[in-house]
Amino acid sequence: MRIDDIKLPNQLILAPMAGITHMPFRILAREAGCGLVCSEMISSNGLYYGSEETRAMLVMADAERPVAVQLFGRHPEIMAEAAAMVEGMGADIVDVNFGCAVKKVIRTGAGAALMKDPDRAQRILAAMRKATRRPLTIKMRSGWEASGKQALELSRIAEGCGVDAVSIHARTAAQGFKGSADWGLIERIKAAVSIPVIGNGDIKRPSDALKMLESTHCDGVMIGRAAIGNPGFFSQALAAINHEPIPRVDPMERFDLMYRYTDQMIALFGEKKACRMLRSRLGWFSRGLAASSVFRRAATRIDSRQTAEALIDAYRDRLAAAQKNSA
Ligand SMILES: Cc1cc2nc3c(=O)[nH]c(=O)nc-3n(C[C@H](O)[C@H](O)[C@H](O)COP(=O)(O)O)c2cc1C
Repeated sequence: MRIDDIKLPNQLILAPMAGITHMPFRILAREAGCGLVCSEMISSNGLYYGSEETRAMLVMADAERPVAVQLFGRHPEIMAEAAAMVEGMGADIVDVNFGCAVKKVIRTGAGAALMKDPDRAQRILAAMRKATRRPLTIKMRSGWEASGKQALELSRIAEGCGVDAVSIHARTAAQGFKGSADWGLIERIKAAVSIPVIGNGDIKRPSDALKMLESTHCDGVMIGRAAIGNPGFFSQALAAINHEPIPRVDPMERFDLMYRYTDQMIALFGEKKACRMLRSRLGWFSRGLAASSVFRRAATRIDSRQTAEALIDAYRDRLAAAQKNSA
């Protein structure tokens, strides 16, 4: 799959997820076989007005490339300026958020609210297209309330503005995360435009990635929640789309991920901030493991690298002993 001048190693893409897809997590996803990673959504206003906190969200590493940076906002000139800024900071692809349905964002007229305002969406994309030479992509919902018309219109607008690919989370903004994704719409968008179309929504099992590719004819598959704490999902989905046997991921591998994630988080954010963040995040990696609720509760007390590592050690040893006893 290609997005303009970027040839991706495969068709699997990590969905942008606020608070989750920062650099340490993106590296784990790439290592597991994901073809393209995306930052969490970044405020164009924050960048434009020089917020240090926003800039800190833009740290990228060579090990994760190619990396897309997703911007949100509603002012064409500010979005254009932000696109030029993230290009300067090393983004391989600039992505625009037309899908966020969180109240805080849609109240400002950004994210999914733009699906109701095609004129503004067009002005934003035209201004951004002029401002950056990097590939430009969009990620949208299936519509504001009803699935279909607005997403098809926005896809055509995007293509007309020189956008290089569209991703579609096939749920309406009103749906949030409820109900199921409308994969039929992904197929209709694929038939309506000639730029690459990336389908998203409800890839729950590795085999779903192949089902989405085959049933919608989309060019790429974007995976979000299934990968949280489980980047090995990408290696399994990759096997599925290549018609290979799906590898079993050893639960004990989760501990290596926890150590590496802890390490990278501390390197990126400093020990104090990283430990605060790890209190809720380390638990992701224990999803599906025995006694994970005890581990998650204990993780809320992490206050240093030492306590984090001791906690992981103890959990790993407990699980290894239980595995040995049951063998
Ligand atoms: C915690 C969380 C944060 C998210 N943040 C973003 C975001 O920053 N930008 C965006 O376009 N979508 C965001 N999304 C939506 C996902 O990118 C994706 O469209 C959605 O989860 C559906 O895919 P899935 O069924 O594979 O999870 C977020 C989703 C979750 C669960």
